[in-house]
Amino acid sequence: MKKLLDLISEEVTKAFTELGYDEKYGKATLSNRPDLCEYQCNGAMAAAKEYKCAPFLISDQVAEKLKENPMFAMAESVKPGFLNLKLDERYLADYLKAMAKDEGRFGCEKAEKPKTIIVDYGGANVAKPLHVGHLRPAIIGESIKRIGRFMGHNMIGDVHLGDWGLQMGLIIMELKERKPELVYFDENYEGEYPKEAPFTISELEEIYPTASKKSKEDAAFKEAAMEATKELQNGRRGYQAVLGHIMAVSVADLKKNYSNLNVSFELWKGESDAQPYIPAMVEKMKKEGFAYVSDGALVVDVSQEDDVKEIPPCIILKSDGAALYSTTDLATIVSRMEEYDPDSIIYVTDKRQSLHFIQVFRCARKTGLVKPETELKHIGNGTMNGKDGKPFKTREGGVMRLQYLVESINEEMYKKITENHTVEEAEARKTAQIVALSAIKYGDLSNQASKDYIFDIDRFTSFEGNTGPYILYTIVRIKSILNKYYGEKKLPEGAEILPAINDSAKALMLELAKFNGAMETAYQETAPHRVCAYIYDLANAFNHFYHETKIMTEEDPMVQAGYIKLLELTRGILETCIDVLGFSAPEKM
Ligand code: ARG
Repeated sequence: MKKLLDLISEEVTKAFTELGYDEKYGKATLSNRPDLCEYQCNGAMAAAKEYKCAPFLISDQVAEKLKENPMFAMAESVKPGFLNLKLDERYLADYLKAMAKDEGRFGCEKAEKPKTIIVDYGGANVAKPLHVGHLRPAIIGESIKRIGRFMGHNMIGDVHLGDWGLQMGLIIMELKERKPELVYFDENYEGEYPKEAPFTISELEEIYPTASKKSKEDAAFKEAAMEATKELQNGRRGYQAVLGHIMAVSVADLKKNYSNLNVSFELWKGESDAQPYIPAMVEKMKKEGFAYVSDGALVVDVSQEDDVKEIPPCIILKSDGAALYSTTDLATIVSRMEEYDPDSIIYVTDKRQSLHFIQVFRCARKTGLVKPETELKHIGNGTMNGKDGKPFKTREGGVMRLQYLVESINEEMYKKITENHTVEEAEARKTAQIVALSAIKYGDLSNQASKDYIFDIDRFTSFEGNTGPYILYTIVRIKSILNKYYGEKKLPEGAEILPAINDSAKALMLELAKFNGAMETAYQETAPHRVCAYIYDLANAFNHFYHETKIMTEEDPMVQAGYIKLLELTRGILETCIDVLGFSAPEKM
């Protein structure tokens, strides 16, 4: 379905052109004075300059024309030359009826030409637990993926595991010190390696930080770990087998943690998967004259004339020939182009990685790793801060594990839910988990991704205000009215959404009609916060309508059925929106 605002603009434009004015003046916008009108057009102000007359002469003429148009309940010319518009209630009801018939899509059309879009948004590191720093990319990336998918695109989420580099050598050496008898360390061993991992996830999570700490204090240990890393990368069998175990144990745990956040990936590829692409890529960059040696390192210049701050060259290989983070990201681009030929690759990471992505994107373009039309986009997220305005920490000042954070919010939510009424323990726990997730995700997504925000547990878990629980509360309220209605009766034959009979009904209907536009904007701007802003307005409009309207006691069955239809549309749209945000609503709360 066309967007309501576009349909309005079309009619206003028609009025302008029929009167002999240029079509460019007919654009309508949402009113910035909702007390006066719903839509407005300021085209007459600009047109007056071209046609050398007073603006209100034009706006008067256009208003006269629009008054005959059944789309409008009001078309008013206001000095000095504004057009104030109100939509006809029947027209609006017809628009919503068509939305309601368009099941699951509510008037939002899928892209005509679906794009293939890879979203790289995990960034978890193998053998290290997820910490709060991983929360934002996971939440934002998942939502970007879902929004794109709703718009009909082929969205592929890749976790892009940090599974390459010194951390593996560190784990191997630490394991060797603890259990030197393990067959993985016997260079002469030729048999098969055990299927069972020589550690559990909790051991693994303890091995890594211990080894990492040791490497900072003990130069020989670090040297050995570096050597082990190299040997691993050169294919030493025993080490490869250990790596296999690290991966299996760690990935299983990561999947569980991500799934608790309702986050999932289509691809579980890692940095290691990109390594085979490096030699040919480097060769090509050298041969084509892009890469040159500077201070022993192999680099590609990526500065541009119009740079306001200096962008240093992208380092491809260090002086010892080792690949870096950027090398891996470039080689990953090569592999993605080969395998998926995506129209776009979107990266969601902390914004402190911005320079890295500028360098990588420029280098990829310059050296022809991507097509000129391939879009590379970095969504750099701001930091989630504690109430003190500083990055979120544990009480002891350490990095907060994601699991603990989620658990503490679940607990907080559980307390709230059980505070005032008695609920069965298991059910309350389940509800608490659903509502807590909405608190975390909405609290995050309602902010523009690039901005820092304060994680305020009291505010985020509140059932009032611009929060996830408030949105869920609204949905649950609608569900309970619908259950009550359908518990007592059936919709009468011919039940339809009816023209609004008061302001709060009309306000709700106007909000509902904005759905397709809101989704489109969220997709185009890669901005989940647009969806949040939309559903907050919608939930407010609904609650206002609810307080002003006697739904269950309405005596006219057709009027009542019209409300029910309106509620169903509201519920459908709210649920679709929270689904693209990556959470869901409970039955009760
Ligand atoms: N593993 C990295 C980290 O923890 C993030 C990876 C982000 N994605 C990428 N393609 N570089 O910082």
